[in-house]
Amino acid sequence: MSWQVAVMTLFPDMFPGPLGQSLAGRALQEGVWSLRTHDLRAHGLGRHRAVDDTPFGGGAGMVMRPDVVDAAIAEATAELDVPLVYLTPRGRRLVQADVRRFASGPGIALLCGRYEGVDERVLQARPVEQLSVGDYVLSGGETAALVLLDACIRLLPGVMGSGQSAVEESFSDGLLEYPLYTKPAEWQGRAVPPVLLSGHHASIAAWRRLQSEDATRVRRPDLWASYAAFPSHRNGLPASSGGHN
Ligand code: ADE
Repeated sequence: MSWQVAVMTLFPDMFPGPLGQSLAGRALQEGVWSLRTHDLRAHGLGRHRAVDDTPFGGGAGMVMRPDVVDAAIAEATAELDVPLVYLTPRGRRLVQADVRRFASGPGIALLCGRYEGVDERVLQARPVEQLSVGDYVLSGGETAALVLLDACIRLLPGVMGSGQSAVEESFSDGLLEYPLYTKPAEWQGRAVPPVLLSGHHASIAAWRRLQSEDATRVRRPDLWASYAAFPSHRNGLPASSGGHN
């Protein structure tokens, strides 16, 4: 059974977009995941198929109508029992623990809005999880949806070549990844750290751990604070629950 994706958008041609290439693209062709887009315009009202209107109370921009959005959600989730996510800068910040949760389920339904947003009532009436991909404003939820999908799809069984690279990277244990080096051993007068050429696996592991911790402390004091407080926990989850050891 495929990991099933439904996307509600005014711009269905933006999907699969970059996810039609490379590993995700091959997985889509192989049926590891499947994609169905739902054009919000198809549920628009009147001769112009209007999907939005001016905000009550005044203000700039337009707001997506609850009746239109609700009809799209009804269509998208009719034969699909998956979590429903609305991409919005007002949402809780997406983290790797969310990605693992979605990837381990049957799929996901994504509502992409224009950034002025969707009428609040439909977000109350439906079991919608509101998520942001970062503290900046995109022109619409579509690129945020592609980010979320990319992060999930690479975790699906059989998508990544080796199981190892999916576990050792940044965030899998609450730390940033250590720096990487390849050939040549010296380039433009810069040598690879000698320990990496030593062949001593324990020393290499210890060096990498230190590099990860230093990078996290300097670049991401927020991550470092939770790691230092709960070094045996991963993104708020007990080490035993994720299976990412
Ligand atoms: N839509 C516009 N900006 C967004 C963001 N930062 N995250 C998710 N959806 C968005």
